[in-house]
Amino acid sequence: MNFAIVGCGFIAKKHAEAIKNIKGAKLWAVCDKVSELMQPYVEEHGAEPYTDFETMLQNPNIDIINICTPSGSHAILAELAAKYKKHIIVEKPIAMTMEETDRIINAAAENNVKLAVVHPNRFRPVALKLKEIIQSGKLGKISHALCIVNWNRGQHYYDQAPWRGTKAFDGGVLMNQAIHNLDLLLWYLGKPVEVMSMDATRFRDIEAEDVSTGVIRFETGIIATVQASTTVYPRNYEESITIFGEKGTVKIGGTNALYFKDILIEGMSDAEALEIKESIEKNPWGTPGHQIILSDIMEAIKQDRQPIVTGEDGKTALSVVLNFYKSAKEKKLLTL
Ligand SMILES: NC(=O)c1ccc[n+]([C@@H]2O[C@H](COP(=O)([O-])OP(=O)(O)OC[C@H]3O[C@@H](n4cnc5c(N)ncnc54)[C@H](O)[C@@H]3O)[C@@H](O)[C@H]2O)c1
Repeated sequence: MNFAIVGCGFIAKKHAEAIKNIKGAKLWAVCDKVSELMQPYVEEHGAEPYTDFETMLQNPNIDIINICTPSGSHAILAELAAKYKKHIIVEKPIAMTMEETDRIINAAAENNVKLAVVHPNRFRPVALKLKEIIQSGKLGKISHALCIVNWNRGQHYYDQAPWRGTKAFDGGVLMNQAIHNLDLLLWYLGKPVEVMSMDATRFRDIEAEDVSTGVIRFETGIIATVQASTTVYPRNYEESITIFGEKGTVKIGGTNALYFKDILIEGMSDAEALEIKESIEKNPWGTPGHQIILSDIMEAIKQDRQPIVTGEDGKTALSVVLNFYKSAKEKKLLTL
């Protein structure tokens, strides 16, 4: 199947690399407003370059569009892609508002095209293993969870492009970085029903937040605390998720959440826990999440089924982010 990337900036490289590694996939075309950015893809993949998105969409050889532009532009591009009957892979966050998100989901449904959202951290070996442990019931009833993203994004990061750190096109630490971890929490713990949050712009000269702390109550009664920041000195400090159950406590973490930090489970020997930890440490990144999501949409098209990470999944993660923002602004606990 033939892919085409729109937006040839930072994340496009991961999409192109994934396409190269998938049997039966080709990067047919690329599109960016800045011509020079397309050159590496023309040279390495033989991709056709386009400076105009709609012209690219008219190419009948293209099956799937990978939307890798600033977050605030996802909706308009996705709607157009659907109109031209192209399947869609959209980077996280799916969009910046619920209204934009519904437009994307409806356009895909009305035009009968598949829609996948890139929440790649689900496919890290440690994240998959944690999902398996939670699903096995070995932790017993879960009381609460703790999710931490204490990272560093210096002012230079936000100054790279005018869209970064803006409320309309990017958002702050929650929308841009911690949405990965929120997606994991939702995938692990189910339906969120209430949120409460505080945020602030402490150090960076941006419109959106660089520090955020919030709480989610899930339908099951589980309470999760989410603490995120991009202000940490001098570099990324910690990304972790800890799940507390009546029969077990499990923590994944590291500067990136790639490892098991603790596996304390009733009836599990230290040797068994160590074996699980070491099996992850052998290859902590595993197959890149982008590659899994891209190859999955090809299968979803062939089998006419939903992709592995759906538009609705992207919408749920976004709704938690937006309700955190609203709760912080209105100083209120919100029911979702
Ligand atoms: N999944 C992940 O781990 C991950 C990581 C980083 C970024 N992202 C997401 O990827 C998206 C892009 O982020 P980035 O860091 O690559 O941004 P970037 O600024 O590096 O690249 C964006 C590119 O899009 C181009 N562009 C903008 N509007 C366009 C249009 N209408 N038509 C054609 N080209 C257009 C720009 O010229 C630029 O080259 C964001 O939504 C971001 O949240 C996801």
